[in-house]
Amino acid sequence: MPSRIEIATASLPPAAAGTLVIYVAEGAAPEGAAAEVWQATGLDWARVSSAAGFKGKQGNAIDLVAPAGVAADRLLVLGSGKADQDGALSAWTDRGGSLAAKLAGVKARNAAVVLDGEAATPARVAELAAGLKLRHYRFDRYKAPKPDDNGDTPLAVTLHVSDRDATDKAIADRDATTSGTILARDLIHQPPNVLGTLEFAAEAEKLTALGVEVEQLDETAMRKLGMNSLLAVAQGSARPPRLVIMRWNGGKTDDAPLAFVGKGVVFDSGGISLKPGLGMEDMKGDMGGAAAVTGLMQALATRKARVNAIGVIGLVENMPSGSAMRPGDILTAMSGTTIEIVNTDAEGRLVLADALWYTQDRFNPRFMINLATLTGAIGVALGNDHAGLFSNDDDLSAKLLAAGLATGEKLWRLPLAAAYDKLIESRFADIKNSGGRPAGSITAAQFLQRFVNETPWAHLDIASVALASPSSETNQSWASGFGVALLDRLVRDNFEGK
Ligand code: BES
Ligand code: MN
Ligand code: ZN
Repeated sequence: MPSRIEIATASLPPAAAGTLVIYVAEGAAPEGAAAEVWQATGLDWARVSSAAGFKGKQGNAIDLVAPAGVAADRLLVLGSGKADQDGALSAWTDRGGSLAAKLAGVKARNAAVVLDGEAATPARVAELAAGLKLRHYRFDRYKAPKPDDNGDTPLAVTLHVSDRDATDKAIADRDATTSGTILARDLIHQPPNVLGTLEFAAEAEKLTALGVEVEQLDETAMRKLGMNSLLAVAQGSARPPRLVIMRWNGGKTDDAPLAFVGKGVVFDSGGISLKPGLGMEDMKGDMGGAAAVTGLMQALATRKARVNAIGVIGLVENMPSGSAMRPGDILTAMSGTTIEIVNTDAEGRLVLADALWYTQDRFNPRFMINLATLTGAIGVALGNDHAGLFSNDDDLSAKLLAAGLATGEKLWRLPLAAAYDKLIESRFADIKNSGGRPAGSITAAQFLQRFVNETPWAHLDIASVALASPSSETNQSWASGFGVALLDRLVRDNFEGK
């Protein structure tokens, strides 16, 4: 498969191409421009579709090689599913993903796709283009090229549409978000020897080219602010901690910003409470929250979102060493709350405790959403189809849940309740950093809430959706980039210019 994909638009009818693609809905025959293409083949639709067992379902395909009357080596007829499901944007992202798979399956080098008809609005075609790119993505920069990779020749896909200008605009706008998702995936995939705290911070600095203001707090600055909770996680590692603050000012000057906070543990060994060896390599991805925040900031800046947004990421490495924090240690967080460490592997909440408090204190944001690969327990509760949502605000939750359905980055709300505080009561300090096995994800969220005041806040536990992602229509790689599309959609639909 070519390593790059290039997507362009053109008007109808389609020009000559290696692979020509038309869509047919469930139970229907080709319509509009697709009907013209089909007619040119001189074939009987009823006969061919029944012989091929083609019903128009998503995933159904008829593959005609060297068809008569058509200027293409191959005509692919793809099912687009039930017409009444066209309303969901995520159906179009999935359709794009599925198309990328079909094109790879026939080793296409260039393709022309017919997309006309009322359903194919510019926004939906832009989703299809996003799906194509996201499905095409591979993280293979450390692998020798395969002989059939066709060097650097990209897969060229031309989308033939009725309203080219509007579609081009929609694609460019949506592509900002896609690139953000891909940045998040790349950061997560990078091995932990390559992407440490400083290297991650340097990646965030690159956003200055897009007009994002980037600030870094080093250990001394954080020590002055009293961020002893975050610093305790970093103290066992040879890599220095950083708090990176990214600001995108696309809104009105005095509008309170939206704030996004990410857990950025570049490698989580567990510390002195060392993790078992099996699968520990996955903990290179324990900065998935910070990666999503960085990808989101890139997306907002690239598409010049009319909103003020802050991204704050806590970058640390959790390692066992002579200088590492110990079970039994008691720390005083920036908020003044004392924390007894009972498990050094419950480190993400220690990082977020100070990052959340700092963000709330300094920026007084309109809302604060944190993303974190926080608990293994969230996967026990929800598997990998939904991320966990915890919030002190019903309105923010409703908006997040809706953005989840629109993007396919789905959330499920779990409870916060004072009763769970009992599980994190400490004998010696205000709280302890782990409540043990019962309700593991909830007690982690409950811990975070101790560092949030009245600000509307949501915590997304993405441990089971960001990493080791199951193959989907829009992702075949290990990291999904979960959160970028979701939060970009949240901003687009609710907060821009408002
Ligand atoms: N980074 C892990 C959570 C995690 C696990 C993320 C699997 C992705 C995949 C987190 O720091 C952690 O170790 N959590 C502990 C908490 C426990 C010690 C209370 C866990 O989930 O076991
Ligand atoms: Mn841990
Ligand atoms: Zn962790």
